[in-house]
Amino acid sequence: MNIVALFENGTPEAPGAALDAYRGIATNAALLRWYVDPANVGLLCRAIREFSSDHFPAAVEIVLRAEDVSEEQTLVHDESELVPTLRRLHRAAGPQVRLQMTNGRSYVLPPPALDISTNALCGLSCSMCDNRVTSRDPATMSSADVRRLMDEAAAWGIGRVALTGAGEPLRDSNMLDHIEYANALGHMVTITTNGFPVSEKVAEALAERTVSVSVSIHGATEETHEAIVGVPKAGEKAWQAIGRLVRAKRRAMGSKLSVNVSTVIQRQNFREIPALVRRAREEGCDGINTQPINLQHGSFRGDDVLRRDDLARTAQLWPDRAQHAELEAMFDELDVVKREVDSFMHASPERLSLFRRYFRDSSRAALGITCRVGETFLAVDHRGQIKPCYRLPWSHGDARLVHVQRLWNSRAYARTRRLVDACPLTCMNNCFFRSGK
Ligand SMILES: C[S@@+](CC[C@H](N)C(=O)[O-])C[C@H]1O[C@@H](n2cnc3c(N)ncnc32)[C@H](O)[C@@H]1O
Ligand code: SF4
Ligand code: SF4
Repeated sequence: MNIVALFENGTPEAPGAALDAYRGIATNAALLRWYVDPANVGLLCRAIREFSSDHFPAAVEIVLRAEDVSEEQTLVHDESELVPTLRRLHRAAGPQVRLQMTNGRSYVLPPPALDISTNALCGLSCSMCDNRVTSRDPATMSSADVRRLMDEAAAWGIGRVALTGAGEPLRDSNMLDHIEYANALGHMVTITTNGFPVSEKVAEALAERTVSVSVSIHGATEETHEAIVGVPKAGEKAWQAIGRLVRAKRRAMGSKLSVNVSTVIQRQNFREIPALVRRAREEGCDGINTQPINLQHGSFRGDDVLRRDDLARTAQLWPDRAQHAELEAMFDELDVVKREVDSFMHASPERLSLFRRYFRDSSRAALGITCRVGETFLAVDHRGQIKPCYRLPWSHGDARLVHVQRLWNSRAYARTRRLVDACPLTCMNNCFFRSGK
C-alpha cells in the first residue's frame, strides 16, 4: 500500500515548513499517516477539511505518540491538549479517519463523562434494585478524593461528571458542594435521585448550578410508584420534588438546571408508561428517560463473561407471557406518544423498538447488539474502585492510586474492551449499545 507519513520526527519549527511538508504529500497515496502534536493539530484540521475533496489519500491515520509504562499505564503524549480537537475531528470525520498510537494499538478518546459514585446509602427498597446499602460504608471515598477525580477528568478533556452511582446521591451531604466544584471546573453534572431529599432549599441550590437532575418515578399513579419502591408517600414525595425543581428553575433567571423523570419499565408499571410521559410533560419537566428493567448478573470464568439471570426477580418483575399482547399495545401507544412529544422523550424510535424486542427475547443474539461501555463509560464506585461497568464484578484498582487517564489506553484496558465486546449480557443502559457485530 502506498503510505505517506507526515511529522514522524516532530513538526518542523521554521515558519511555513509544516505547511510546505503537508502541501508536498503525494495526493494519490492510499493512506496518510499523520503524527499529531500540538504544533500541527491546527494544520491537521485543515487537512481533514480538504481531505473530503477528491484529491487526497483514501484514508487518514492520526497517530499519537504513546509509551506503555506498564501493563496498566500508557502515557499518551500531549493528550490533554489534543483531545478537544481530536473529539471534534472524530465526530465530523467519517470512518476513513482512524486514531492510532505509536505502540500499535488504536487510540480511544476519553469517555464523554466520568461516573463517580460518592455514596451507596439509600433508604428505599425498590423491588428491582440491589445496588444500595442501608448503612454508610466506612470505606466510602472522602470529599477530597472525589474532587481530585473531578480535577483529573477535567484535565483529561472530559466535560461531564455523573454523580449518581449505586445509592441515593443526595444522601451525600457534600453533593451540592461537589456539583458546584464540578461546575467551576467546566463540568456539566448529571444525577438521578429518588426525590426524597429535594427540599425547597435543595431545589433552589440546584437551580443555581449546571446540572441535569432526573427523578426516578416508576408509574403515572402514586400507588404504582409506591408499590415498586416499597415506601409509603414515595409517589407524593417524588412529584413534590419535580414541582420544587420546576418552580425553582423558573424563579432563577437563566437557570441551567434540567428537570427530568427516569423510569424503569417492568411488569407492575408498563401499562402506565404513556400516561407517565404525558404527566411528566404537564408537570413542566424538560424530558423523560425510559429504560427497561434489567435483572441480569455477570461473572468471569477465565477470559469469558457468564450471564446469570435473577430468576426469582424475573418471575415477579418481568412481564409474563399472558401480558405480552398488552405490552405490545403499550409500545404501539408509546410510538404515538413519541411522535407527539418528540425529543421530550429521550429514547429514539430505534431504542423504543429495541426495548420492545428486548421484552420478547433479551438474548444478545436475538437483539444483535454489542455493548459500548468500553469506549463510552468509565466509573469509580464509592470505594474508589475503577469499574468499566457496574454489572460485572471487576475492578482496575483504586482510582486514588492508579492514574485513570493512563489506564484508559493501556494494554490491560484493551483486554477489558475485548471482554466487553464479547459480553453476553444485554444491560440496555442508555447509550451503551450500538447495532452490529
Ligand atoms: C441505582 S439508582 C440510584 C439513584 C437513585 N437512588 C434513584 O433511584 O434514582 C439509578 C437508577 O437505576 C435504576 N434501576 C435500579 N434498578 C434497576 C434495574 N434492575 N434495572 C434497570 N434500572 C434500574 C433506578 O430506577 C434509577 O433510575
Ligand atoms: S431509590 Fe435508587 S438506590 Fe434506592 S432502592 Fe430505589 S433504585 Fe435503588
Ligand atoms: S453488557 Fe456491557 S454494561 Fe452490561 S455487563 Fe456486559 S460489559 Fe457490562
